[in-house]
Amino acid sequence: MIGSIKSKLNLKADSYKYKEYRECINDLIQTEVVCSMKSFIQHSDITCLEHCIFVSYYSYKICRFLKLDYCSTARGALLHDLFLYDWHTTKPKEGLHGFTHPYEALKNANKYFILNNLEKDIIEKHMWPLTLKLPKYKESFVVLFVDKFCAMMEIIKFGTKSYRYKFKKMCNIVANE
Ligand SMILES: [Fe+2]
Ligand SMILES: [Fe+2]
Repeated sequence: MIGSIKSKLNLKADSYKYKEYRECINDLIQTEVVCSMKSFIQHSDITCLEHCIFVSYYSYKICRFLKLDYCSTARGALLHDLFLYDWHTTKPKEGLHGFTHPYEALKNANKYFILNNLEKDIIEKHMWPLTLKLPKYKESFVVLFVDKFCAMMEIIKFGTKSYRYKFKKMCNIVANE
């Protein structure tokens, strides 16, 4: 009984922790198209949705600290890999996944949402310097560095089991609040 009350209180405290972040992405995270990223693996056992939440949340934190446009950053970063296919088995006809998926993600994001210029830049340029066009905004640089860091951590199966568990829990809270 006490255990269950404690875990409910913990969950409430956790969801409060992500409340302001969640407000920035609320309309996006509830859509079918964003949720569908759950069906694709990004790296190791991390789904595309978890990867996007990871990149979005940490980019949001950094941009907030730097007094940049943290809300657009959170939104652009959440959509930055909205390419919607399994890149391990699907080879895009336009070229290699690493070079082409930002344009596919931007095309999909534009189809479902109204984006501002910063959000578009974040999505389109997040693979720079692979994609040659230089990012226009400081926020885009934050996202591209966080994305590379997160990808590396995911590939090397970052951290201890308990850290990984906390990360998965955070994604769960953000996605299902
Ligand atoms: Fe990407
Ligand atoms: Fe990514």
